[in-house]
Amino acid sequence: MADKLAILGGTPLRQRPWPAWPHVGPADVERLRQVIENRNLGGIPFPNTLHREFVERFTTSLGAPYGLLCTNGSVSISTALRALGVQAGDEVITTSLTWVATASSIVHVNAVPVLVDISDDNWCIDPQKVEEAITDRTRAIVVVHLGNQVADMDALVDIANRHNLFIVEDCAHAHYAEWRGQCVGTIGDAGSFSFETSKIMTSGEGGFLTFKDEERFHRAMSLVHMGHKDAPYDRYEGRVLGWNHRISELQAAVLLGQLDSYAELDAKRTLVAEQLLKGLSEVGGFKLLPDDARVTRRQKYELLVRFDTEAWDGLHRDKVLAALLAEGVEFEGDTFYPPMHRDPLFHVDAKEWPMIRERYGERITADSFHLPVADKVGLDEAVWIHHSLLVVEPEDVQDMLDAVQKLRDNLGELKSLT
Ligand SMILES: Cc1ncc(COP(=O)(O)O)c(C=O)c1O
Repeated sequence: MADKLAILGGTPLRQRPWPAWPHVGPADVERLRQVIENRNLGGIPFPNTLHREFVERFTTSLGAPYGLLCTNGSVSISTALRALGVQAGDEVITTSLTWVATASSIVHVNAVPVLVDISDDNWCIDPQKVEEAITDRTRAIVVVHLGNQVADMDALVDIANRHNLFIVEDCAHAHYAEWRGQCVGTIGDAGSFSFETSKIMTSGEGGFLTFKDEERFHRAMSLVHMGHKDAPYDRYEGRVLGWNHRISELQAAVLLGQLDSYAELDAKRTLVAEQLLKGLSEVGGFKLLPDDARVTRRQKYELLVRFDTEAWDGLHRDKVLAALLAEGVEFEGDTFYPPMHRDPLFHVDAKEWPMIRERYGERITADSFHLPVADKVGLDEAVWIHHSLLVVEPEDVQDMLDAVQKLRDNLGELKSLT
């Protein structure tokens, strides 16, 4: 009976818990203790001491000209758009296979989100669809580097240059991923990062912004600091209405530890990701996305693999992933991201956001868009493997592969499940 599927009452293949995320240790506790003893907890003076130290180190390591910290990776997208001069009623093009915040950040600056389809190769925004969606109101593109993928920045920069558009790179998944040797977030006009709990680097909550242009960086500093226009962050015209999006010193203290542990964890993730992807392609049932030599370094926030319906005799992804979860291995489907235009969280009503009315009427709905690739990938094909499953030992990887193998060996039983 050892082989009976756990979802049918058998013994789960994996019984031990997986390693906990995030990785924090005694050095973090010590740094936090010092902050508390100093009683210098907050965001003022702006930027505060540990805040400044983190910004200097992270900005330099990315190779960005300017960087700033803020409260999260949603605010950072809105702040980038405002600092770049996106105004009420401007159209901003983005993708649907992403977290809701990518598009709601556009709505939050009273701009109009225009969702276009993804490429079936890398599941990031399709440059051709971007070009087709440009109107005389388009001001910017928010590009998402999804999971372990990097969007086609050559094509997107070319389009942006030809149509005089800004690019904001949403790098919430992609700290230190590289396109042709350059870190993402430093290729477009601004790069946005998240340090939310699930991310590769985390302070529980937190966000980061990079800029190419000094004046726009200064404007963003004012925007996250209640509109204060203080030297040396005062080199822009006029004033802005800011808000309080300052991060605390407690968060900055945790972020410094994340920088210290990054290289070791990254080396482990890289090794394990290779082993796991190779193993999955051998066991079968999942297809790897095509490689692209222009992606010179991949981040592994989520490994993305394509569910191969044929190899599972027509079974739907979600059934197989439910059976895998019962075996103790969590790979996710649309419990991670459904296509965002179908997500009830993307609730955009013209009564609250009147600038959408002209394009969408009273409300944005799933029918406002025709996104067949995002639908196919998001609803049927995308399998997401979180990076916490990559900071493990070789025998843990073997458990994941054995669990998949067990399902493949019991495909008949699996198919009998209603
Ligand atoms: C692609 C993407 N963009 C933006 C965000 C927003 O980041 P935060 O949760 O820090 O606001 C996230 C985080 O969940 C994300 O995954």
